[in-house]
Amino acid sequence: MPDFAALQQELRRLAAERDVVILAHNYQRPEVQDAADHTGDSLELSRIAQKDPHQVILFCGVHFMAETAYILSPQKTVLMPDKHAGCPMADMATVAGLRKLKAEHPDAVVVAYVNTSADIKAETDVCCTSANAVQVVDRFPKDQKIIFVPDRNLGDYVARQTGREETMILWQGWCHVHDDFRAAEIGEIRAANPGSVLMAHPEIRREVLEIADVVASTSGMLRYPETSDARTFVVATETGLLHKLGALYPDRKFIPASTKAICPNMKRNTLEKAVATLGEEWDDVLEHEVVVPERTRLKALQAVERMLA
Ligand code: 13P
Ligand code: SF4
Repeated sequence: MPDFAALQQELRRLAAERDVVILAHNYQRPEVQDAADHTGDSLELSRIAQKDPHQVILFCGVHFMAETAYILSPQKTVLMPDKHAGCPMADMATVAGLRKLKAEHPDAVVVAYVNTSADIKAETDVCCTSANAVQVVDRFPKDQKIIFVPDRNLGDYVARQTGREETMILWQGWCHVHDDFRAAEIGEIRAANPGSVLMAHPEIRREVLEIADVVASTSGMLRYPETSDARTFVVATETGLLHKLGALYPDRKFIPASTKAICPNMKRNTLEKAVATLGEEWDDVLEHEVVVPERTRLKALQAVERMLA
């Protein structure tokens, strides 16, 4: 077992020496979250990446998140401990497929979940995250046709929340971590824990969202227990979220809705790799650097800025 305390100390020392801010998504390994300057959901981390004054960002998350940080702040150096940490759902959306869909529905606008590549964002009118998808879609008139890409589950949830089941065209992508939850299995966990509250991420199938007490982004789930008298919560999302839930609410009980809900890509960023990245000779750090070609960035920026506005 690596000495996490020593690695965290070394990471903090390197970050201070090299003017680096460390951002970690809520699904990161506990020891990585604990060493970060900021943890958060996709929306919060985008906002922090934009406003933070450090010149270098070490982004412990998946590739589209680091890309989004670069799209917003191209003057900064954006690094990842492991650049191969991708998002299989983001990869399910292709530019050729999206262009075809746009040609078939020329009167539609494109709303893209932030879990997409910069190339897809460049083909998009406005981005959203799980925290603001309903609000972003609701800004359009009710009869506006909307192509929603890439998550069919989030798209279905938003369509139902906004009364747009007839006007939203859903790309058929999914997150393999969230799509695997089943209502029957979760029902058994709840039956064994009477009075428990079910919190679920909107990337999950409708059958689970229909029985959930709360549907929220990862940070929404981190805030919810504060407003609830419940003592026990069943948490339907990637298990990385339980680390912070436990730290924030030590007197409550949090049960994973499935112990198999682990995103292998999120977990690629280890503390050792984070230390190695900041310990590199600065010329060699390029293999950890995330950049987006300027033409693509400028087009994608419009969609990301509309989301943040
Ligand atoms: P949040 O935006 O809710 O943090 O989750 C996004 C996600 O699934 C990242 O992979
Ligand atoms: Fe992608 Fe799902 Fe992993 Fe998030 S949890 S990075 S959506 S595969």
